[in-house]
Amino acid sequence: MTFTSFDADVEEAIRTLPVADKVRLLSGSGLWFTQAEPRLGLPKITVSDGPVGVRGHRDTEAAGSVNLPSATCLASSWDRRLMARVGRLLAAEARRQEVDVVLGPTMNLHRSPLAGRNFECLSEDPLLTGELAAAYVDGIQAQGIGACPKHFVANEAETERTTVNNVLDEQTLHEVYLAPFERVVRQARPWMIMAAYNGVNGKAMTENPLTENPLKTEWGFEGAVVSDWHAVYSTVDSALSATDLAMPGPEKLWGDGLVDAISSGLVPEAVIDEKVRRLVTLGRRVEEGRRNGPATPEAGAAVAREAAAAGFVLLENPAGVLPLSPGDLTSIAVVGPSALDPRTQGGGSASVFPAYTVAPAEGLRARAGDGVRLTTVQGAWLSEGLREPRTAECHAPGQGEGSVRLTWRGPAGTVAEEYGPRTTLTRGTGAIPAGATAVDVETIFTPDVSGTWKLGFKGIGHASLEVDGDAMAGADSRDRYADIEAVLIGAPDESAGVDLTAGTPVHLTLRYAWHPQATLFRVGLAIDEPRESADREIAKAAAAAGAADVAVVMVGTSGAVESEGFDRTSLALPGRQDDLVRAVIEANPRTVVVVNAGAAVEMPWRNDAAAVLLVWFPGMEFGNALADVLFGDAEPGGHLPTTWPAALADAPVRDTRPRNGRLEYTERLDVGYRGWAKQARQTPQAAAPAYWLGHGLGYTTFAVEGFTLLGAAAPGDDVHTVLTVRNTGSRDGKYLAQIYADAPETDVDRPEFWLAGFATELIPAGEHRDIRVTLPGRSFQHWDAGRGWCGEETTFRIAPAGQAGNARAALAGPLAASIGPAATIRPMASIPPAATVRSAASSRPAASVPALDGMG
Ligand code: BGC
Repeated sequence: MTFTSFDADVEEAIRTLPVADKVRLLSGSGLWFTQAEPRLGLPKITVSDGPVGVRGHRDTEAAGSVNLPSATCLASSWDRRLMARVGRLLAAEARRQEVDVVLGPTMNLHRSPLAGRNFECLSEDPLLTGELAAAYVDGIQAQGIGACPKHFVANEAETERTTVNNVLDEQTLHEVYLAPFERVVRQARPWMIMAAYNGVNGKAMTENPLTENPLKTEWGFEGAVVSDWHAVYSTVDSALSATDLAMPGPEKLWGDGLVDAISSGLVPEAVIDEKVRRLVTLGRRVEEGRRNGPATPEAGAAVAREAAAAGFVLLENPAGVLPLSPGDLTSIAVVGPSALDPRTQGGGSASVFPAYTVAPAEGLRARAGDGVRLTTVQGAWLSEGLREPRTAECHAPGQGEGSVRLTWRGPAGTVAEEYGPRTTLTRGTGAIPAGATAVDVETIFTPDVSGTWKLGFKGIGHASLEVDGDAMAGADSRDRYADIEAVLIGAPDESAGVDLTAGTPVHLTLRYAWHPQATLFRVGLAIDEPRESADREIAKAAAAAGAADVAVVMVGTSGAVESEGFDRTSLALPGRQDDLVRAVIEANPRTVVVVNAGAAVEMPWRNDAAAVLLVWFPGMEFGNALADVLFGDAEPGGHLPTTWPAALADAPVRDTRPRNGRLEYTERLDVGYRGWAKQARQTPQAAAPAYWLGHGLGYTTFAVEGFTLLGAAAPGDDVHTVLTVRNTGSRDGKYLAQIYADAPETDVDRPEFWLAGFATELIPAGEHRDIRVTLPGRSFQHWDAGRGWCGEETTFRIAPAGQAGNARAALAGPLAASIGPAATIRPMASIPPAATVRSAASSRPAASVPALDGMG
């Protein structure tokens, strides 16, 4: 697609700009900026990750970003309005930090439960992913900030991510993996799209014709295609593709070599001009956004808290132990590794520096009040390594607020002093006070138990630790300064054993100097408490649980097993956490298990617990949102966006490991619940999943009273339906309407059934609502390798189901309706508003339709 709408003077400026100057614009200036060109009216544009907040371009913990729940948690809300609200908040965060484009949402699908970045992606379903991403992008862009959906396309694993060739047939590529991107582009018109690291069908995505067609040509994408960071691997092939911008920059492969390739005719100048036009378009959007800002401020804490609760999935609650009522309790035991050291977000580029985090024990203590005794026990450890000190363990020396005092030093002495929230410092060169070459990080640390603590630090550079003025540990690893992965993820640590007394504070001073050429460093205090044996620790937790009215056991994954950059090898909870859960359940039948993981984990004890609540990576308001849900101030609003296996070995699609550089998507259309459904039909003795897509219990009950097919304006158009649902419980609650479809007589390859549409609605206790659910026309089309998108002359069935596992029965059940030759849908000149539908067009009398099980 070529732009033709530029003013003549801009076109003239592009035409006359020297080639080398145009080429300069096509890659960044540094990690997060593009190049400006006044002759084209092109501003310097700032981008930043995304997607759980806005990290900011200074790469510093001082950013104090809002840390929202992980994409998996947000997607569990199935709530477009919430996604748009989150988008508006992100726009405000971007504006606050002088960022023009947010690098998100991450839209790859949960193909294998082992994929390392699933926490950052929304779901296993193309429709759900596309719809939620579109709402999120709308929310951001309505505020004059750009969004950059990523990673286009088929980036469903991390193993060999920059070289892997993912092999997909055409139908699968279009119906499953391109489909969410098509929806986001057509519906929300993002300003940018990020081309993935991987290849598809033999071509790296930064060289792949898919960015031209369908992205730009068929879908009409008007934005700029940006490479994933360092994903431009060639000069000519990538320049000839529809990739417009290489990041970060300057990118050597798009430097002088590209200028030569243009001079020699290998790359036509017109191709470069087209990229420049797209950057100019982006620049205009950015300028307009800056002019028309500021973005509407949203209360970050409130959005983070509500979004978390809206995505918490109540997996089990057989006897209704939840919600708890504080009036009936005198004591709670909160045990497990994430009670005190919660994981609020996943690791890697998707992480932000949270303004603060509310630990679960803290949030529960505040809500439970003074009348309830709350005890905490570690119970198990996620790893053998050191941890960051907790906020409650540290305070800054001197007059300032926060956890640390930072004294920045240069050759001539102190250049600046500041107080900060965290004992780990991350700084890009832009966030270091002028003249500083070193920093002292000081805190007053108060241990809560007596014994031999490990006190030390983690980071690359020259570091030494003093405890009450005495030198303890030191290290020099300055030579590794340019290894960004080592700086951010795999930094070495050093520590020494020190005997400390509970309640007696010590003064820790970390003296640190970075390499003069480093552009980014991270360094922080790292400690470990005296550990009892794992068995003893579990016994302590069980004893505390047994002595309390209710036990809350908090378990989850660690950064070492679930993060960006690698795939998982197991879905088991790390360490002795399963043993811990079993021991606590044994000690107290009123045990609530809280699962703090970004994506699927095995929960072998799930049927023995009084309740299982999945909180994902819930963001900085973790503790408050958890208290809201456990005490019933908010309902757990989530429904799984992905089917969870009981055991990894049962999952129909697992593979993330390329063979000879190739990873074949051999399951074709049958990703997620579709694969489980096929497996169940073909191998009836095969294990069922632990929980299907759509599963989630709330605090109330619902009954479906009717389902009406209204029709579509014309074949291929959206199909309108109405689901009548009554809240039969005594609390208000959010109902998730899920409509599934199948085509029993089809001649085309199709899944067993598929999600055709969804909507959420808040229904007050005792009331009913007519929920309008629109099923996009695309839900009934298929991709034909020769003809593209087609409609088949066959009968489709549609039916509501409370989760994917009930879809097959529902499609053959009393509520199912038919679309197609056998029961041609009524063309609707005008479709009546939902409120009038029940009396006017209900296909069956509501009273004759039995309430379905599992609809809640
Ligand atoms: C990730 C992207 C991210 C980029 C910039 C890459 O490694 O794959 O998602 O936006 O880094 O941080």
